[in-house]
Amino acid sequence: MSRSSYLNYDDSDAYDQFGTPHENRQEHRKKKRGEIHRPKKSSADVIAALSDDGTDATSRPLTYQPSRFEAAWLMESLQPFFDRGLITDILALVRGGKEASVYVCQAHPVTGVSLLAAKVYRPRMFRQMRNDSVYREGREILTDSGKVVKKTDHRVMRAIGKKSGFGIEVAHTSWLMYEYTTLQALHHAGLDVPKPYSAATNAMLMTYVGELHRPAPTLSLIALEPDEAQALFYQVIANIEGMLARGVIHGDLSAYNILYWDGTLTVIDFPQIVRPQANHNSWTIFQRDIMRVCEYFNDQGVSTDPEALATRLWKTYVPDEE
Ligand SMILES: Nc1ncnc2c1ncn2[C@@H]1O[C@H](COP(=O)(O)OP(=O)(O)OP(=O)(O)O)[C@@H](O)[C@H]1O
Ligand SMILES: [Mg+2]
Repeated sequence: MSRSSYLNYDDSDAYDQFGTPHENRQEHRKKKRGEIHRPKKSSADVIAALSDDGTDATSRPLTYQPSRFEAAWLMESLQPFFDRGLITDILALVRGGKEASVYVCQAHPVTGVSLLAAKVYRPRMFRQMRNDSVYREGREILTDSGKVVKKTDHRVMRAIGKKSGFGIEVAHTSWLMYEYTTLQALHHAGLDVPKPYSAATNAMLMTYVGELHRPAPTLSLIALEPDEAQALFYQVIANIEGMLARGVIHGDLSAYNILYWDGTLTVIDFPQIVRPQANHNSWTIFQRDIMRVCEYFNDQGVSTDPEALATRLWKTYVPDEE
């Protein structure tokens, strides 16, 4: 991801800049004043332009036809996965959210699966996250290889403090890498989360849950039979417990971030995880996760006691601080 197009991408008025990611400032100002007329580009033009300068993600047309607004951002975000030989096509948009868009991709045979989900982060999400000091407290900065940036790295620390272009980019990548490295750890531990395959500056690749044109619905959309509800409640609690045992609180857990497929659950969406001992609000955030999960299962006829449950798990896994 080049910084110029990254920073230019935001809301609708910024999308046009995708067509000319390398234009200089003077030209940009002129354009803003309306002194240069450029016809609007179609998504096909944008993709063709990307191909022309040798930066194309794929030599054949994509199955999914992105809108003009999303084309360049999408291609730049997913190009590393084409380059690494992990995906060969983008097949469909699963969901375009306010914080991230998820696409279903054709996986390369070397991956051993046929489909993969690509989560592409929107810059707007990063801006909201950056301002969310409740989550940020106690978090180190992660590089795009998942390494912690040393506090003594003054160049990076100063850039983040000043919110310079470079600093913002580092902070964005850090949020993404929290999600990615968390998925790695939890998947490795056998918890019910998508397997992460690869991460890039602005996107990550993971197990796709569902069928091609039938993505797994979120649990919030499902009405469960009583027996199944009880079993799935235990499954969620086992996952929350497994996470806490590894020092992870989801931080935004609810039936909206759990997928339901084939009678089983997959917990998703981890960028805002909180560490129990690194954040003053961790207990409150943990209780809220438990409460939201219990709310859904209560509606499905399961009897729950969120306070007792949260207290029991916390006492078991979070040692008292002296
Ligand atoms: N691995 C996956 N397999 C299938 N669908 C997925 C997968 N990951 C995410 N999705 C779908 O994409 C949606 C958005 O993903 P996610 O919850 O990770 O992002 P988000 O930041 O919460 O976005 P939003 O603001 O839209 O909720 C999910 O609600 C789900 O429908
Ligand atoms: Mg979500």
